[in-house]
Amino acid sequence: MKTTINHIDKYNGKEVTIGAWLANKRSSGKIAFLQLRDGTGFIQGVVAKADVTEEIFQLAKSLTQESSVYITGTVVEDSRSPLGFELQVSNIELIHEAVDFPITPKEHGTEFLMDHRHLWLRSKKQHAIMKIRNQIIQATYEFFQKEGFLKIDPPILTGSAAEGTTELFHTKYFDEEAYLSQSGQLYMEAAAMAFGKVFSFGPTFRAEKSKTRRHLIEFWMIEPEMAFTTHEESLSIQENYVSYLVESVLENCDLELTILERDKDILRKIKAPFERISYDKAIDLLKEKGFTDIEWGEDFGAPHETAIADHFDRPVFITHYPKDIKAFYMKPDPNRPEVVECADLIAPEGYGEIIGGSARIDDLNLMQKRYEEHALTGDAYKWYLELRKYGSVPHAGFGLGLERTVAWISGVEHVRETIPFPRLLNRLYP
Ligand code: 4AD
Ligand code: MG
Repeated sequence: MKTTINHIDKYNGKEVTIGAWLANKRSSGKIAFLQLRDGTGFIQGVVAKADVTEEIFQLAKSLTQESSVYITGTVVEDSRSPLGFELQVSNIELIHEAVDFPITPKEHGTEFLMDHRHLWLRSKKQHAIMKIRNQIIQATYEFFQKEGFLKIDPPILTGSAAEGTTELFHTKYFDEEAYLSQSGQLYMEAAAMAFGKVFSFGPTFRAEKSKTRRHLIEFWMIEPEMAFTTHEESLSIQENYVSYLVESVLENCDLELTILERDKDILRKIKAPFERISYDKAIDLLKEKGFTDIEWGEDFGAPHETAIADHFDRPVFITHYPKDIKAFYMKPDPNRPEVVECADLIAPEGYGEIIGGSARIDDLNLMQKRYEEHALTGDAYKWYLELRKYGSVPHAGFGLGLERTVAWISGVEHVRETIPFPRLLNRLYP
């Protein structure tokens, strides 16, 4: 019976055939241990000289790393394997012999691995990370569909900048100037006015000159937008969503978390509600923690975010930032117009901001004033203003960065390992 490693438990005691690659191998005089992978998982194949023909035994012993095979054997229980099963091999059919696979089981430097990303993806660790990424994607769709959100796809080629004009990728759109989207938000606001509760999930592009463990040039963002919704109500959706993601990974990716040596007890504590602290309080906290230079009105850097996050055992919302360091569309606090109704959600353990969100300005005159302050002119913003002209309502939304969330939940140090082919400041290859 032809099967895959993830379904092997259904064939205990039976003979199966798997299409696989050789990940690693050990052999002695009478036995060869083949570490096999098929894309769904990893399993050990045991080839005993006594059980197979001399030809098959020699083939097993000479098999090179990443050669592809059809391998046949009997599934037997093995309590030492994380999978719980191994394969007692009876036959091997070589499909293709790999010669000198560059990524050997020894240690390699990061740049070498990044240059071979197309092959590095085959490793057990990368497999575990991509499984967790996939689970987070699936859980995202589950959560928002259950909550009654409509999935809407904003355009990727746009004429408007949502998050400032300094980090745009420019491109020609026939005779016009266009950009690659840095956020779908403005379009999602239009969608919220049409469909109430909406979410998008797509790639975004930022020509950021940042070379840190948290920054990608191309990353994926989930952007919900909700009509008739206050800032507070949005925070409650955010904490429920993030808790749901963690719960879903704990439930469905136990083996992967084990492979990544992730501390699951830390993740089990991630349950809504999350603490909310104001920007003002965050400044006080930072001063107490020895950041004596920080002044009210300044934005936080990575060390500040980490110091604040270390104070809590689950993600923390920092709310009500000064309006001058946030985007033009954020709604001022009616009682304190120098701050806006916004929040950044900071993940624990130094992973930084995973969500940015806010209530949006819904008043036409105020939005017009912001346009003037930010020098936003032209057709690109005309339609956005019109959303405030025809039945404007209080609304709020947020954006969660997929890769930072995957890095945090997986316990992976750098976002470059959380996307199949990372685009970084100095990297477009492979
Ligand atoms: O805080 P940001 O810039 O917010 C927005 O774009 C809003 N328009 C979202 C909205 O309200 N609809 O980005 C949102 C999130 C960040 O919290 C972070 O997780 C991620 O996107 N992010 C990045 N991830 C990887 N690399 C980068 N260069 C990122 N920039 C932002
Ligand atoms: Mg932000």
